[in-house]
Amino acid sequence: MINFKQQIAETIYDEALGLSVEEIQGMLEIPADETMGDYAFPCFRLAKVLRMAPQKIAAGIAERIGGCELFAKVEQVNAYVNMFLSRERIAEEVISEIIREGDAYGRTDLGGGKTVIVEYSSPNIAKPFHIGHIRSTVIGNSIYKLYDAVGYHVIRINHLGDYGTQFGKMIVAYRKWGSEAELEKAPIQSLLGYYTKFHTEAEKDPSLDDEAREAFVKLEHGEPEETALWERFRELSLQEFNRVYDMLGISFDSYAGESFYSDKMPAILEEMKEKGLLVKSRGAQIVDLEPYGMTPAMITKSDGSSLYVTRDIAAAMYRKKTYDFYKNIYVVASQQNLHFKQWKKVLELMGYEWQEDCIHVPFGLVSLKDGTMSTRHGRVVFLEDVLNQAIEKTAEIMRDKNTPGVDIDEVAREVGIGAVIFQELSNNRIKDYVFDWDKVLNFDGETGPYVQYTHARACSVLRNAAEEDLAAIRAGNVDYSYLTGESANALIKMLYQVPEVIADAAAKYEPSILTRHLIDVAQKFNKFYHDEHILVDDPAEKRAKLALVLASKTVIANCLGLLGVKAPERM
Ligand code: ARG
Repeated sequence: MINFKQQIAETIYDEALGLSVEEIQGMLEIPADETMGDYAFPCFRLAKVLRMAPQKIAAGIAERIGGCELFAKVEQVNAYVNMFLSRERIAEEVISEIIREGDAYGRTDLGGGKTVIVEYSSPNIAKPFHIGHIRSTVIGNSIYKLYDAVGYHVIRINHLGDYGTQFGKMIVAYRKWGSEAELEKAPIQSLLGYYTKFHTEAEKDPSLDDEAREAFVKLEHGEPEETALWERFRELSLQEFNRVYDMLGISFDSYAGESFYSDKMPAILEEMKEKGLLVKSRGAQIVDLEPYGMTPAMITKSDGSSLYVTRDIAAAMYRKKTYDFYKNIYVVASQQNLHFKQWKKVLELMGYEWQEDCIHVPFGLVSLKDGTMSTRHGRVVFLEDVLNQAIEKTAEIMRDKNTPGVDIDEVAREVGIGAVIFQELSNNRIKDYVFDWDKVLNFDGETGPYVQYTHARACSVLRNAAEEDLAAIRAGNVDYSYLTGESANALIKMLYQVPEVIADAAAKYEPSILTRHLIDVAQKFNKFYHDEHILVDDPAEKRAKLALVLASKTVIANCLGLLGVKAPERM
């Protein structure tokens, strides 16, 4: 990885300054005002040690390093040494590194292969996979890719909501009103229908609730009939979920959901009892969290059955034992903030210091322009329908554009789905946002299609280049002095920052940091494309410009990949 700060620190280093290269590197600043240079070194701290005015120290350093070929210009301004990097040198280092590394550019090994778990998506079975689920699914997938890119070994877990008393209701409802033929035809719709009917009927006839409780107890005890039904519901739900995951290009290493932990519950309850944490409260068992300003965590119901938080405690312990994670990341809506706070506190009270490595990464709500979406309001918008609509709308736009050589069906899929994913990752994740088709599919806005289109444009320029020019570039035969213009330089600086931006996005669990930077890269590329004529007659100049196009294309494709978005070559 190129590191200009380090190169500068090595150049400034001098025994007499009494600072190590790392210390100097840490002191380097990037001036907000570009006319003050690319980097600045403040000399205040040195004044005491050297017993000299900081201005004088700055002047001395500026004079000493001024002639170095790393810089185009070095100036002393007050107590600062302001450094302007040589544009030719930046172009050379950055572009040659990108071309050398290809699809590995941006990746680092900061993580040293340590294990990180990313849990995401985690829908509830027998319930619709609706537009609201896109958030955890897509943000989680990108966080997985970011952690992979910075050198961690990542385990992707889908903590399916496949357990709980509602399955008792579902079983009873299915037996009363359901049929396998209906299930075959429209699994989730039918299950949802039975479930809704159960609730209306149970209001009139409360004995249904008792029946449901019984069915759930049987399920918990592994009775074959109830288990078979539950397994069928789970299998049908997974089939539906997987269709959507395939469309999004998303997969998991484990689908160990809530049910996976049911047999691990007794031992955990025993442990909590031994540690003196359980308190009886109206037949239920709770952990009192009042001293920490929280409502109690309910661990078992009065009938002894476990709860959501209990299963999450079991899951965390299982994951620690199985994977010995360095970090255990939960990408789950901010509506569950309290749940995760309580859960962490209980783990802490159990004496598990590693609870500090369990991280809840929350996000805000998505709503449709014409109202919110939720199962309770009965207005469910299936994610699959949204994706299909995105593909259809994109195909329409592309038919109008009528670009030759484009396989509309395939590209509309990549662009339509890419647009939805990109939009999802464009905003700071904690913010609520409104899903709006006009914004999602705008080819000129700060959108997925815009970035993809920029990539395709770069590909098209490269297709029109002669093979001998591309071969010369790959052989490193490039005169970078042609890339010192304003727009080329601005673009190259953006490309240079990519590895750092990726590391920052991973550290903050915030894919939008990368998305925003990528939009910037695309805008700078388009400015360069408009300002400069690329396929000029002069072979040296043409090759230099093509090298920058190739580097830009590589970086855009790599970054889109980390967001989980495809990079079509034509559109
Ligand atoms: N199934 C839950 C829901 O749909 C989300 C699960 C989140 N993950 C967890 N470990 N609690 O609300």
